[in-house]
Amino acid sequence: MKILVLNGSPRRNGNTETHIEAFKRGAEERGHIVEVIPIGRVRVKPCEVCEYCHEQKGRKCRIDDDMIFIYPSLKKADMVVFASPVHYFGFSAQLQAMLSRIYCWHKLPASKYALILSSGSPDVFDGIIGQYRHIVKYFGGRDEGILTVSGKDNKSEETLQKMYEFGKSLKDPKEEPPGQE
Ligand SMILES: Cc1cc2nc3c(=O)[nH]c(=O)nc-3n(C[C@H](O)[C@H](O)[C@H](O)COP(=O)(O)O)c2cc1C
Repeated sequence: MKILVLNGSPRRNGNTETHIEAFKRGAEERGHIVEVIPIGRVRVKPCEVCEYCHEQKGRKCRIDDDMIFIYPSLKKADMVVFASPVHYFGFSAQLQAMLSRIYCWHKLPASKYALILSSGSPDVFDGIIGQYRHIVKYFGGRDEGILTVSGKDNKSEETLQKMYEFGKSLKDPKEEPPGQE
């Protein structure tokens, strides 16, 4: 299946990027096609609620920025992975801004979702996990897994192995028994 990973971190070679690399290796070994978009480093503004997208047929956003390259990837993904550092108990502002731009469609078409979070301290994930669960339910999708890492565990062998195994464990909808896809 086509997996789209949205990397909310602005840091190159940071913790989130390292997690995604391990995840991607596992998922590709399983035969999935993985695309990673560095949301933290592209030019994406938050929704301005101008309602232009809802006032014409194509549901197109009129803000002129890098979302123009991201919408097609969001449209064709079977699975979307939100990967973000914890910034003040929430997603990074860059990822949150991108999420607000889904407003023109209201929902994403992907049927599967996952969450990968990195933080400095433990016990800081509840807010984002709550938001993520609401989003997945609202989209009518299914959660495939939530992985959280903090502090010195961020780049440990064990963590990277966990990310890799998670990627490798993902099933293509065609591999699943009827009714489970
Ligand atoms: C602006 C900012 C806000 C942060 N807020 C939190 C926080 O609320 N709780 C926490 O445990 N860590 C916080 N951190 C630490 C990051 O979540 C942590 O260093 C993370 O591993 C960074 O991931 P990255 O290397 O992928 O960017 C914050 C870091 C920054 C730069």
